[in-house]
Amino acid sequence: MRQTKVFLDESEIPKQWYNIQADLPTPMSPPLNPGTGKPLSADDMSAIFPMALLEQEMSTERWIDIPEEVLEKYLLWRPSPLYRAYNFEKLLDAPVKIYYKNEGVSPAGSHKPNTAIAQAYYNKMAGVKRISTETGAGQWGSALSMACQMFGLECRVFMVRVSYDQKPYRRLMMQTWGAECFSSPSNLTETGRRVLAENPDSPGSLGIAISEAIEDMLGDENARYSLGSVLNHVMLHQTIIGLEAQKQMEKIGEYPDVVIGCAGGGSNFAGLCLPYVRDKIHGKDISIIAAEPASCPTITRAPYAYDFGDLSQKTPLLPMYTLGHDFVPAPIHAGGLRYHGMSPIVSQLAKENIIEGRAYHQLETFDVGVKWARTEGFIPAPETHHAIAAVVDEARRAKEEGKEKVILFNWSGHGLIDLASYDAYLSGKLTDYVLPESEIDRAKKTVGQYPKL
Ligand SMILES: Cc1ncc(COP(=O)(O)O)c(C=O)c1O
Repeated sequence: MRQTKVFLDESEIPKQWYNIQADLPTPMSPPLNPGTGKPLSADDMSAIFPMALLEQEMSTERWIDIPEEVLEKYLLWRPSPLYRAYNFEKLLDAPVKIYYKNEGVSPAGSHKPNTAIAQAYYNKMAGVKRISTETGAGQWGSALSMACQMFGLECRVFMVRVSYDQKPYRRLMMQTWGAECFSSPSNLTETGRRVLAENPDSPGSLGIAISEAIEDMLGDENARYSLGSVLNHVMLHQTIIGLEAQKQMEKIGEYPDVVIGCAGGGSNFAGLCLPYVRDKIHGKDISIIAAEPASCPTITRAPYAYDFGDLSQKTPLLPMYTLGHDFVPAPIHAGGLRYHGMSPIVSQLAKENIIEGRAYHQLETFDVGVKWARTEGFIPAPETHHAIAAVVDEARRAKEEGKEKVILFNWSGHGLIDLASYDAYLSGKLTDYVLPESEIDRAKKTVGQYPKL
């Protein structure tokens, strides 16, 4: 009988996260203090994040122990299953084997709890009482709400307005897990009030919501801020995905030729891919692909430069591909991919051609997402559709080249709370958004004011 799933025993769960900073061919450019233009110290950020997370942010230790309390929570759904997508393979009729890591099995429905639980734990250990954050599609906000509840912390979430309106059920998940959730831009912060005064119909953006969350947290000494992607410590926590995948693939005697993830801020992509990036740095021949929306193309089109992570310039200057911190992406349904920047780690790997970006249009991604649901059964999140689009691309190439390929990708979340977007697609109401070149020129002008990389 053919094998569809590969499980690991609970005792086989990785006990350490992998830190790519130990193996990067060139050390990362540091984040900068916008006031002084100098590299940031952990002290500069101690009002925002607990010290343990700041240490991880800057660490170059290769392996970092996962605390026992975090592992206990991970075991609620981890190790996550590795699947072989036989039915989708049959549909594609190409010489490829397709494996995917199903991160949709977590209680919140995506990969986000991998870092939410770790971040809630370190905040709890530091004596923090409340965490403030932003969310796009609500995947991150719901994951953090659950994690905060697990560790007895209060949680406040600023949810990008377009998603708040499109996805009311994620707000209800947050509230069920005991968090407060506000539509962003909101009237609670100066940033929100300023944006609303300029444009009462603003669809919001992650950049605006991050500013609101930081502003809200700075007014409460017992609160700290938490980010669901982009930062190095988030990429670190997510590597549990790739470390498990490596063990699972080894069990069935496979090694991928291509590894794929969708990329918003970069965390699920990094989570699956960084352990494979390590192999590539050490000589393995492997393609590593980040799939992003054509309407918000950072890796594929944006300048690589220092920029802020948020609209109100409250974050440090980060070295990354960026469409400009004031960029407001089109209201596509993959809300988790609507971010102007990209993880500095992922950006650097792309800059050095260790990984590559590919951009896909909304309609194409829904087309393959629906095909996936009709063959494999599981309904993917709109963000995950982008990774599936890259899988289809790779399968097509393999067929053209007549080459057999093993493809592994991150199925970052299910779409059961995103069915309104499926409704829009199925009833022909979805459109593509093409980013005009003038937006890239605008981004270059915005980042032109900051120190050069
Ligand atoms: C299911 C899913 N996939 C992908 C993403 C993109 O985020 P990241 O690039 O940090 O993985 C999100 C963000 O909310 C998400 O919910």
